[in-house]
Amino acid sequence: MAREQFGVCAEPSLHGYYLLFNVLDDKNALIRQALSRLPAMFEKYADRFSEANLTGVIAIGANYWDEFYPKARPKSLRAFSEIKCDDRIAPSVNYDLYIEVRSDRADVNHIVAGKVCELLSGGVELVEQVRGFRFLDGRDLTGFVDGTENPKGRHRREVALLTPEQDEQFAAGSYLHIQRYRHNLNLWNRLKVKEQEDVIGRTKIDNEEYTAENKPETSHIKRTNLKDAEGNSIEILRQSMPYGDMKIQGLFFVSYCHSPEPFENMLKSMVEEDELGNFDHMLKFTQAETGASFFAPSLNILAELAI
Ligand code: HEM
Repeated sequence: MAREQFGVCAEPSLHGYYLLFNVLDDKNALIRQALSRLPAMFEKYADRFSEANLTGVIAIGANYWDEFYPKARPKSLRAFSEIKCDDRIAPSVNYDLYIEVRSDRADVNHIVAGKVCELLSGGVELVEQVRGFRFLDGRDLTGFVDGTENPKGRHRREVALLTPEQDEQFAAGSYLHIQRYRHNLNLWNRLKVKEQEDVIGRTKIDNEEYTAENKPETSHIKRTNLKDAEGNSIEILRQSMPYGDMKIQGLFFVSYCHSPEPFENMLKSMVEEDELGNFDHMLKFTQAETGASFFAPSLNILAELAI
């Protein structure tokens, strides 16, 4: 049975290091070899620093997939398409590779991210690097707890991973979407707490969900809590982390799912207006600066690359 990469469903950690690369021309063979060795490298450091709970994820960009693995393509893998409505924009940026390193130690992440760059050197250009951190009790920098309604326990796997019935060849793989959001915290912090709570749809300190009748149509929760035709919740597994320094702050948004559709529909519902003109008012206070889609293949597919 195919095994998933351990970072996909891992529980939240204290620190994250996200690396985004583009592959140089004619370097596909080198990249395949290097990526096939990465899971063993993650395991080695997870062992060496066993208290750090290190996990990693390797994912391949939608536009790079066919060069990387010409044999076959995950059935629903498609590029991130930009969405625009009035002054709200969810831009699309091309990246060939995504490497996520997460653990409870920033120093261990630093060492492992360095090893990743070393292994890939000569074959890639590092286009972006983001260091995420846990903020207070799992809050976004807006001060609201992020991740409460994430799937829990075994259900994380059901949401995030492809089953053999869904895609036999790519079972245990996962569709990944990322967006780097930059917050306007000056503007956000000018709101009263009740106004912020109306934007999110939950209370700030106690993190309680608004009742259905009190939840504004423009709240983030309302825009993203979508139902299918049978009334079941449509879900994604969010592994986002706050990032920033004293100049720039935001959320590095990360979503894993067995299909790209849930993320795509949620994002549309946030950015585009519904028939009554509602959109996600959180977007008045944060701006996506990047957006990309990837596929995180199973460990079995990564191992096969070495052959
Ligand atoms: C819920 C923050 C972007 C999907 C939440 C919650 C917060 C939050 C505070 C409430 C607690 C929770 O259940 O986790 C943010 C911030 C974002 C962001 C700060 C970016 C700046 C997104 C995006 C999507 C998304 C881009 C998907 C396209 C969801 C979903 C929920 C949620 C599905 C749970 C809704 C529910 O069932 O109650 N988010 N989010 N979020 N968010 Fe976001």
